[in-house]
Amino acid sequence: MPQRFDSINFSEGITSNPEHNADLSSDRYTSPDFMQMEWDKIWTKCWIFAGLESDLNEVGDFFVYDIGRESIIVTRNEKNGISAFYNACQHRGNKILTIDVGWVKQVTCPYHGWTYDLDGELKKVPDEDLFPGKVSCKENSLKSVHVEVWAGMVFVNMSINPAPLEKYLGEIMNQLSPYHFENMELVKHQSVTLDANWKTVRDNFLEQYHVDFIHPQHASFVDCCDAQNYLWPFGHTHTCVESPVMNPRYPMPNKPPEYMVQYLKGLEINPDEFIGKVPEVRKVIQKQKRVIGKKLGFDYSELTDEQVSDVFQYDIFPNLFMTIHAERVWFYGPRPHPSDPNKCTFTKFSLMIPEEKMRDEEQGLELLPGSYEYQYSPSRVEHEIFTRQDVIDGKNSMTATIDQDIHYLNGMQAGMHSRGFSKAILSNDEGRLQHFHNWIDNWLSDDPLWSKINKIG
Ligand code: FES
Ligand SMILES: [Fe+2]
Repeated sequence: MPQRFDSINFSEGITSNPEHNADLSSDRYTSPDFMQMEWDKIWTKCWIFAGLESDLNEVGDFFVYDIGRESIIVTRNEKNGISAFYNACQHRGNKILTIDVGWVKQVTCPYHGWTYDLDGELKKVPDEDLFPGKVSCKENSLKSVHVEVWAGMVFVNMSINPAPLEKYLGEIMNQLSPYHFENMELVKHQSVTLDANWKTVRDNFLEQYHVDFIHPQHASFVDCCDAQNYLWPFGHTHTCVESPVMNPRYPMPNKPPEYMVQYLKGLEINPDEFIGKVPEVRKVIQKQKRVIGKKLGFDYSELTDEQVSDVFQYDIFPNLFMTIHAERVWFYGPRPHPSDPNKCTFTKFSLMIPEEKMRDEEQGLELLPGSYEYQYSPSRVEHEIFTRQDVIDGKNSMTATIDQDIHYLNGMQAGMHSRGFSKAILSNDEGRLQHFHNWIDNWLSDDPLWSKINKIG
């Protein structure tokens, strides 16, 4: 069954689809030259997802976002705002902060002690008299990076004069605001290192064509065959898959399958009521979640029925994609390796609504099945970093589904190097993937469409 694709236009002459149709030749995944072009014209020009606002609650909180050869410090500054600057000391360039997340009173370089405030302004130079003519604090602040926060996510932009994030995301912001990701709590933070280009990761999550083949368990809770896809300007996309439903390619069972049984039980519904009536489960769940939500204190009123039950995935160009349920979101952000196009780091943040709103063990209530796989923690969860082999060996997991994806990613990259492979052949169902690459080519072109509304320098 073919998926449906709708294109969305912005005002100001920005259309969803650039005219050029990208060829997916293997060198775009393997070539250092292509990687360098991406760095010059995408990574240093786009808004990129860097981390979570919840890591910046108190003045002095910071996180470090390493991307390619760059490292960026993001802080909660003394004025209770958020600042971002390059993690490179103005004395001789040392990388100042080397831990992921933390708190500092000031930003002090560990090499010779140059000290900056939380806004990056230079405050102290030890033995300043040793520098002929002294050192101007004003002129030697850490070099700033544009930063914006939206829905609990922190975005940075390394270009000189970028268009506001609001223009870059457009209507997507309005569509996602009812979820209130900013009220969700971080329950897992994981990164897996892969022998794969960052786009190989993006490609995997930009199509559902593989789902029936490598995720057979999905047959009993989502209908990817009939997904509705939307193509946005700048290379963003989103897709909606109905849930919980049966994959229409398989015979309809008489009884609800296990996932639906758990879902119904958690919402105080007897699954036996649906014997012979499995297609009715989704609609009933949409209604009953609002009822049980009230009991637990979770408010679904801003969400449409589809948002209450279905799985939405939004893909923000270039590096953020999110799998969204009303009660849980996964933010993913692949990052290119500093120098090798054959490697990347793939990070996943798992967030959920507060525990007391999500479930009540005594009463047997649970708004979304599977929530017990996650532990809430009063302190910031640890950032787990592991390899693909750790996933294969069962030592770490990003969920069964994503582990299945991870299994294939290195093999995809290996095939790109074969003399026996030259370029991809895409099906109609892989239209989001094609759209993403069309926009990559557009960003890399001499006359990119975004320049019409963007003053990116
Ligand atoms: S390199 Fe930072 S103080 Fe010298
Ligand atoms: Fe997958």
